[in-house]
Amino acid sequence: MSEHIHTDTRDRVLRIELRRPDKKNAITVAMYEAMSAALERAAGDPELRVILIHGQPEVFTSGNDIVDFLNLPPGAADSPVLRFLTLISQSDKPVVAAVTGVAVGIGTTMLLHCDYVVAGESAQLSAPFVNLGLCPEGGSSLLLPLAVGYLRAAELLLFGEAIGAGQARDWGLVNRVVADGQAIPQARARAMALAAKPPAALRASKSLLKRRVAPLVLQTIHEEAASFAQLLGSAEAKEAFAAFVAKRPADFSRF
Ligand code: COA
Repeated sequence: MSEHIHTDTRDRVLRIELRRPDKKNAITVAMYEAMSAALERAAGDPELRVILIHGQPEVFTSGNDIVDFLNLPPGAADSPVLRFLTLISQSDKPVVAAVTGVAVGIGTTMLLHCDYVVAGESAQLSAPFVNLGLCPEGGSSLLLPLAVGYLRAAELLLFGEAIGAGQARDWGLVNRVVADGQAIPQARARAMALAAKPPAALRASKSLLKRRVAPLVLQTIHEEAASFAQLLGSAEAKEAFAAFVAKRPADFSRF
């Protein structure tokens, strides 16, 4: 479905690799669709017990493709990105991620839906939605303050500046930091360890861990999507996207 998403299954682990390195693994509509198809496959196949997501040792993802934001903006009610976020946030099977290099926007917010995250030491997590004239997505306005506390969440979401792997670990956004080349193998090892566990007990435990917040997460994802869709059409966002395409700093002084 997308040449930029590679999947395979081994040792009861469904692996999803973002592979579009020339664009820093920026995620297109076709890539969201391919990742959603993989997540649906995992949900329906009892032989698949864990999902593993990663990029390459140099890069996780630069977030949503900005050219797609211009040409194929997601709507408020239904879109490939919303489907992906719904599936990953509601997955009853554990999701393990390796984050290496940049993890921008949804590259950071998707980690909030994972059950175990290994970071390479060069990882840089950022959520620069405001800088793009946008607002938080993926349930991050709820999950980020829950994970790191309000002030740190506000720092990440309002300034949009990146934090490094060590800070992400100290703030509880990743489980452990390893050498870049070790992040993907170690994430796979953790995925395999989970895949060897009794699956019903694993699913019940994850479901109990998530039971209070899961309905709120879904509601938040949809509320955020409504604001996000509105802001995508704003003059502020258009200036931010035009600046990115023209490789110049954005100028918000006239707003
Ligand atoms: N959407 C579309 N294209 C993207 C992209 C994105 N999110 N991120 C990077 N690219 C493209 C660049 O336009 C460039 O393409 P080109 O070679 O055809 O000019 C290529 O990927 C390499 O990116 P570049 O900016 O040269 O790499 P870098 O190492 O200097 O910087 C980033 C990497 C991720 C810091 C920078 O590309 C960036 O800020 N990207 C935008 C991130 C973003 O705002 N995402 C949306 C979040 S909601």
